[in-house]
Amino acid sequence: MRQIFCALPQLFLVAVPLLLFNPSETVRSRYPVRWTLVTPTSSLLKDLGTEYKEEINSATNTTVVLKDTPMEKPRNVIVRKLTKSEKKVLQRYTPNELAAQRLFLADQEAVLSIPTEAPGWVYNKTAADSFRHRVISGRFGNSSFLVTQENTHVNTNLKTYFRKPQNIKVTTEELRRFPKESPFKTRRFKTCSVVGNGGILNGSGCGEEIDASEFVLRCNTPPMDDKYWKDIGRRTNLITMNPGQVNFRYNSFGNKKKFEKIAFKRASKAFQEAKEAFLQDLSVYGDSYLFIEAFLYKLSAKRAFLAHQVLLESHAKYEVIFPHPDFIRSVHSYWNESGVVAPRVSTGLLMTSVATQICEEVHLYGFWPFHSDRNNRRLTEHYYDNALPSDAHKISEEFKQLQRLHNTGVLRLTTTACQ
Ligand SMILES: *[C@@H]1O[C@H](CO)[C@@H](O)[C@H](O)[C@H]1NC(C)=O
Ligand SMILES: *[C@@H]1O[C@H](CO)[C@@H](O)[C@H](O)[C@H]1NC(C)=O
Ligand SMILES: *[C@@H]1O[C@H](CO)[C@@H](O)[C@H](O)[C@H]1NC(C)=O
Ligand SMILES: *[C@@H]1O[C@H](CO)[C@@H](O)[C@H](O)[C@H]1NC(C)=O
Ligand SMILES: *[C@@H]1O[C@H](CO)[C@@H](O)[C@H](O)[C@H]1NC(C)=O
Repeated sequence: MRQIFCALPQLFLVAVPLLLFNPSETVRSRYPVRWTLVTPTSSLLKDLGTEYKEEINSATNTTVVLKDTPMEKPRNVIVRKLTKSEKKVLQRYTPNELAAQRLFLADQEAVLSIPTEAPGWVYNKTAADSFRHRVISGRFGNSSFLVTQENTHVNTNLKTYFRKPQNIKVTTEELRRFPKESPFKTRRFKTCSVVGNGGILNGSGCGEEIDASEFVLRCNTPPMDDKYWKDIGRRTNLITMNPGQVNFRYNSFGNKKKFEKIAFKRASKAFQEAKEAFLQDLSVYGDSYLFIEAFLYKLSAKRAFLAHQVLLESHAKYEVIFPHPDFIRSVHSYWNESGVVAPRVSTGLLMTSVATQICEEVHLYGFWPFHSDRNNRRLTEHYYDNALPSDAHKISEEFKQLQRLHNTGVLRLTTTACQ
């Protein structure tokens, strides 16, 4: 009798984890750029590798197949369970027509009260210089907003800026990761385009205009397929990558998640596959600077260094640059004081701030946070997908600020089609 009572709880201990483990949370591997969330019953499995598919979720059959995966989504290099935050990302990327329709209707309403930008834009150098200076609190002059061997030495503490600050003490080896001096130290470009990823770009025909500027900045490694070129252009001079991507897209190059240090098993299939995927993903950005916000927190620095190391060892042509955490703090504090109160400003707003440091005239494209344009056309979240928006940033507040900067001649915001 006693034995049965003991056995039952033991059975329970075994059964519960099995029930909790939902096989639909397993990411299946299939190279190239695809990812799937599948149930064992999924009939879509066999369609992998074909066209973009949208399947509305039902409570029991969750099946998502996405094509043209931008790099902020997990890449299915290795079969493993999704983490909690990956699941959250996945949810945002699960096609949801009902939610999209709701967003469209709400934004249609919102757009009515959005003033149009002042017509006949002209660059105001006085206003732009003043903004340039204020956004960096005057501290990071001469475009030294990056971590370099000029402003950082062995044992310098770099203070992270996301949530609770932590000190990262620079070692001799890490110091070598930083350029001797900023590549922008003696350069100022005449015109720069900062390309946001908004759905407003779809059908905009802005590609030629974007490519005509001297320097093109893009955000978060978006897709650059031929079919988008007319709207987004072909050129990229600086591309940002989120360090989280190193984990959820490239599985930290086969590192044990707990450590994520540069101890690659270079001969392993996991490392080789991830490296190949990484290099292939980046190949669409030409020989851009790869801008990684390494000093968000300690783990993101480790991940950024992993990516950097892989590029170094592959003799890749990308120059990796890390924004200085004090610079980001100053940018955050400027925007916070201007009313954009959020744990972090968006990459778009950060890159706009960066662009004003290295460029004379800054032109923005793809910055329009609504799912409807001014002619009641329904827009997707990004020019390349119909994800649901993240609530991490105060995007509509940011947009107001960009309109203010446009109206005062600091930069030019394009929210219509290009001629
Ligand atoms: C789930 O998928 C299976 C196979 O694709 C199908 O036979 C079944 O009817 C689906 N169930 C629901 C509730 O949609
Ligand atoms: C340019 O900006 C400055 C400072 O913001 C302002 O005083 C000036 O009137 C502006 N010039 C023009 C032509 O609008
Ligand atoms: C910028 O460079 C100039 C000349 O090289 C130098 O005199 C000046 O102090 C520098 N400014 C800052 C803020 O570093
Ligand atoms: C942001 O601004 C608010 C006031 O609007 C202030 O209380 C807060 O400390 C600021 N946060 C940061 C990080 O500067
Ligand atoms: C872009 O616009 C075209 C034409 O309106 C539409 O067919 C297509 O689905 C849109 N693309 C995205 C990603 O929304």
